[in-house]
Amino acid sequence: MTILVTGANRGIGYELCQQLKEMNETVIAVCRSSSSELDDLKVQVESGIDISSDASVANLVQRLQGGTIAVLINNAGMFQQTTLEDLNFDSIRQQFEVNAMGALRVTEALLPNLKAGSKIAMITSRMGSIADNTSGGYYGYRMSKAALSMAGKSLAIDLKPRQIAVAILHPGMVSTDMTNHSGIPVAESVQGILQRIEQLNLQNSGTFWHANGEELPW
Ligand SMILES: NC(=O)c1ccc[n+]([C@@H]2O[C@H](COP(=O)([O-])OP(=O)(O)OC[C@H]3O[C@@H](n4cnc5c(N)ncnc54)[C@H](OP(=O)(O)O)[C@@H]3O)[C@@H](O)[C@H]2O)c1
Repeated sequence: MTILVTGANRGIGYELCQQLKEMNETVIAVCRSSSSELDDLKVQVESGIDISSDASVANLVQRLQGGTIAVLINNAGMFQQTTLEDLNFDSIRQQFEVNAMGALRVTEALLPNLKAGSKIAMITSRMGSIADNTSGGYYGYRMSKAALSMAGKSLAIDLKPRQIAVAILHPGMVSTDMTNHSGIPVAESVQGILQRIEQLNLQNSGTFWHANGEELPW
């Protein structure tokens, strides 16, 4: 099975590539720039791809030459702090470009590579849940992840006739660069993400899950 992962050079994306490689899957690791760890995995690395750029994503499509993708994991994302006292609209805009539009841009561009039975995973965040927002703040990240979750839900509906299922996944609070390495081990989160993708089908497509299997409120 061919599985494409964005944001593959570090964090959750790298761990996804590592576990998938151990499972003998064919991995396409997409990143802006590779890392020595990713190079050592000996999977297909497509570097130089910025998901916020149309031209960059078009370049990825060209490189893949129409090859079938069984699972597309839209993992790449960014986190910047934005508080009401210090709103930075450029930062909010940038988080939208990457977190919300980046994942949609990649998905739309790769639709010809997705066939009946293919699956898409959107790595969103519980911080994009409106119902779960009890602490405020984080305007750019929360808004962009709420938008990503909404894109995932529309994709689930629009792609059902093509028999492509979409999961909207929160990885948990995971120890990566994004969290300054506080949270659960990345291996545990990725095991959960891969289980959710395994259990994803056309009936449960469009559900918002925690990697641990709990269904989350919008
Ligand atoms: N860690 C958590 O607790 C947590 C919780 C909820 C959701 N998430 C989500 O999980 C995903 C992975 O996060 P992580 O914890 O692994 O974070 P991370 O270690 O900061 O990794 C982020 C990845 O996204 C890539 N990326 C950022 N901007 C990009 C762009 N414009 N084009 C292409 N790639 C880009 C980064 O590449 P560069 O190295 O080139 O920057 C990196 O590979 C993200 O979507 C994040 O929002 C994480």
